[in-house]
Amino acid sequence: MLVNSLLIASAFMATSIYAWNKDVHQQIGHAAEHLLTPSTKSILYQILEPHYNNSIGLAAAWADDYAHTPKGAFSYQWHWIDSADDAPRYCNVYYHRDCSAGGCVVSAIANQTQILKSCIDRVKAGELLNGEDTTCSQALKWVVHFLGDIAQPLHASGRKAGGNGIEVVFGNKTTELHAVWDGYIPYADANVTSFPNTTIHPFFSNLLSRIHADDFDLPTSEWMACSNPSRALECALNWARDSNALNCDYVYAKDIDGVDLATSGYASGAFPIVELQTSKAILRLGTWLNGLVDGQGSHAQSLVVQTDPSWSMDSDRGE
Ligand SMILES: *[C@@H]1O[C@H](CO)[C@@H](O)[C@H](O)[C@H]1NC(C)=O
Ligand SMILES: *[C@@H]1O[C@H](CO)[C@@H](O)[C@H](O)[C@H]1NC(C)=O
Ligand SMILES: *[C@@H]1O[C@H](CO)[C@@H](O)[C@H](O)[C@H]1NC(C)=O
Ligand SMILES: *[C@@H]1O[C@H](CO)[C@@H](O)[C@H](O)[C@H]1NC(C)=O
Ligand SMILES: *[C@@H]1O[C@H](CO)[C@@H](O)[C@H](O)[C@H]1NC(C)=O
Repeated sequence: MLVNSLLIASAFMATSIYAWNKDVHQQIGHAAEHLLTPSTKSILYQILEPHYNNSIGLAAAWADDYAHTPKGAFSYQWHWIDSADDAPRYCNVYYHRDCSAGGCVVSAIANQTQILKSCIDRVKAGELLNGEDTTCSQALKWVVHFLGDIAQPLHASGRKAGGNGIEVVFGNKTTELHAVWDGYIPYADANVTSFPNTTIHPFFSNLLSRIHADDFDLPTSEWMACSNPSRALECALNWARDSNALNCDYVYAKDIDGVDLATSGYASGAFPIVELQTSKAILRLGTWLNGLVDGQGSHAQSLVVQTDPSWSMDSDRGE
């Protein structure tokens, strides 16, 4: 067991690939910023160090850099949960089976959300200013990052270290399946080679408009059924399961061997999935942060224009 998980961990390390690419994380942060209320912003900007220029978008990729320092190495495994399922035959995630000792993305979201909540209370009490508490600024940066990671299907899959051990071809380049979902597919969808890191790109502005209009195949009420930070562990596990299911529905269900994923139809078929998953990350993040500052869900309803905001606090369905 131990040897096996070490091998998996080192395979993951060796490729040095992790989560949505940095600039995709930054775009999720920039987009979520547009959903924050003025009071959420004023509180969070006391938690973030001044050099982030009051921007959770700029801070959204810190966690990947930190995980690759000796000091931050303990947090590396917090970026994913290795499900012991067998995609595409069957997909599932169980917390006690799959979250390793030392943590996983589900436990890390719960832990850092709780820490962040206490930091927010300290800002409100006038006890914390100017990003001077590292534990607090890190909690915010981890929450921003992990709500992105958990929406990437291969961050909720144990097969070959989240697809890092699966060689594929994309646009005539040999790469790994994980990298294809981290960057190649979003870039191809937006027809770019990278996204800017300080401003929101039109591709993500468009996703924001679609979020406001509730314009996805799956209604926002479904992805926001659990969006209450006081139930962080339960919600994070739901999000992991939601991402995990995509490995059976698409990621491993389509042909990936002996084809060029850029032109075989795999990438274009994945565009709506990537659009939906990044939008989930954006709306969940904005709702989560507002909920932590203003009390659960109080501003969630106004984020989405819809007649039946069934996921808002007042009618929380409970999962
Ligand atoms: C933050 O803002 C300052 C002043 O506008 C600018 O010089 C600096 O480059 C910005 N930093 C980042 C990381 O964008
Ligand atoms: C929670 O986070 C703190 C600070 O980041 C860390 O020291 C602690 O080990 C974490 N606990 C768990 C159970 O992950
Ligand atoms: C891949 O290589 C083939 C043959 O060299 C070329 O025709 C095609 O345009 C290339 N495709 C991409 C996406 O670069
Ligand atoms: C993608 O971008 C290239 C270069 O900017 C441009 O020539 C091409 O028309 C674009 N394709 C689409 C489908 O927008
Ligand atoms: C943003 O991108 C520029 C240009 O690639 C780079 O110099 C800068 O360090 C990046 N900043 C962040 C915060 O990633």
